[in-house]
Amino acid sequence: MGSQESIMMFLCLVLVSRGLVCMAQGKVYYYDFVLEEANFTRLCSTKSMLTVNGSFPGPEIRVHRGDTVFVNVHNHGEYGVTIHWHGVREPRNPWSDGPENITQCPIPPGTSLLQEIDFTTEEGTLWWHAHSDWSRATVHGAIIIFPAIGTSYPYTWPHAEDTIVLASWFKGDVMAIINEALASGGDPNKSDAFTINGQPGDLYNCSSNSTYRLMVDYGKTYLLRIINAVMNEEMFFGIANHSLTVVGMDAAYLKPIKTSYIMITPGQTMDVLVTADQAPSHYYMAGSPFADTMAPFDNTTTAAILQYRGNYTPPTSPSFLALPVYNDKYAAMNFTVRLRSLASRAHPVNIPKIINKRLFITVSVNMIFCPNESCAGPDGNRLAASLNNISFQTPKIDILQAYYRSLPGVYNATFPDKPPYFFNFTGDVGNNTLYTGLGTKVKMINYGAAVEIIFQGTNVGAAENHPMHQHGYSFYVVGMGWGNFDHETDPKTYNLVDPPEVNTFGVPTNGWLAIRFIADNPGVWFQHCHLERHTSWGMDTVLVVKNGNTAATCMRPPPHYMPPCH
Ligand code: C2O
Ligand code: CU
Repeated sequence: MGSQESIMMFLCLVLVSRGLVCMAQGKVYYYDFVLEEANFTRLCSTKSMLTVNGSFPGPEIRVHRGDTVFVNVHNHGEYGVTIHWHGVREPRNPWSDGPENITQCPIPPGTSLLQEIDFTTEEGTLWWHAHSDWSRATVHGAIIIFPAIGTSYPYTWPHAEDTIVLASWFKGDVMAIINEALASGGDPNKSDAFTINGQPGDLYNCSSNSTYRLMVDYGKTYLLRIINAVMNEEMFFGIANHSLTVVGMDAAYLKPIKTSYIMITPGQTMDVLVTADQAPSHYYMAGSPFADTMAPFDNTTTAAILQYRGNYTPPTSPSFLALPVYNDKYAAMNFTVRLRSLASRAHPVNIPKIINKRLFITVSVNMIFCPNESCAGPDGNRLAASLNNISFQTPKIDILQAYYRSLPGVYNATFPDKPPYFFNFTGDVGNNTLYTGLGTKVKMINYGAAVEIIFQGTNVGAAENHPMHQHGYSFYVVGMGWGNFDHETDPKTYNLVDPPEVNTFGVPTNGWLAIRFIADNPGVWFQHCHLERHTSWGMDTVLVVKNGNTAATCMRPPPHYMPPCH
């Protein structure tokens, strides 16, 4: 046994002695995440913000498929926070999933929480982020999952790899921004910039010297792991003069797609190959919003530089690229419809063909009535958002604990299978369901059910593309389209051969999305739009997948040290 392995073995024993099950098949790694304030200067001004280990973006977790990671999260900040491992299935272990007051209460300042991240089916790129109010704006980082030892990428091993994290920069304090918006009922402030690996780039004031640079050698191929950690906007991204080959998404492989740009929603990751095959020079890589909406959004462009090594006269300014304009929904759709699973022998798909649980979920922006027009939203009302016309109310005690211990009064198992009534969701909607109901309603699902969900975007409030995210599962996107879903004709268009397997996918503006998965991971799993203001407004629900009949199909018991609820 090598010394590294014996350290792992020792660590495993220590963890077992602390009441944790050590079920690792691969290696076990241990990380310390210290939540702490740090000062950053961007856009000519300095602010203090919450980070992990003082860095923005935060530290990368690097593992191989099958490994287990224990992260000890130490909260040295001023308020309670939770951390979520976005896209990690966490089989039977919702206890470490992280969404605040869904699977745990926040980690109080001055305390620590040991979380266990079990990598099983994922291979590629994911990310972690805070899951308390808007703290994820500054508290996030990459998760890189290499193929299991002895296996390889289903494409030529790249010369080198780099991570590209797209994020939002707010000059103000993000927690104050969302708190003010929730108090007034109006729209939260837009971000002031987007960033690539923490830097806004050349096109903003005071940013030229710190612009992120990726150095490349002529003729080599690079793997870029692109993560959209932006708060409220989907993004177009591209590199001047270079074509991109998308080979993976949300830690699953795709049939290679050659393209000049990608559209990536908050929550999604894309693995992209780029060959440095152009004249040695400096080229911009840039991200700008895709925002097919009337809602306010940040309409700025973040840039980094792809720079060739070698002797040549550098250009006075890097070559620029034209990304699609912000409301080009056809550019977004033309890229999105090309996404297909690799579906090879080594990376097979398992798409449910016979469905035994169907949900039809409308996705809307709404209002809550305010007496005397006392709120800052439209007509003096409060902005809200809903699924099936229920605006999710976050409980005070986490739903997982309430479910596990049968605590009454925390949630209702009454989330409906369809909206309260059907109308022309995507046309002239009038006042239909403009005012939403409220509640903490969850959907119970039997273990092993083959689930189909149709998400129907609506023109209620303000139509927009909504990137729906599912905790605890990846799902197959079997269909999508504009307008109202047609139960007769649209299922005939489904791709049941090689649909992409993802954890987050946009419901097209005034359109629909059909997803399928097998509910074989028991637990309490949050489902929400990954546009942060919509999450805050209640575009959320919870799928509670019940236990199966055997020990191996039941949720694991909780560790004995979950943070207290107040
Ligand atoms: Cu990436 Cu519930 O989140
Ligand atoms: Cu949304």
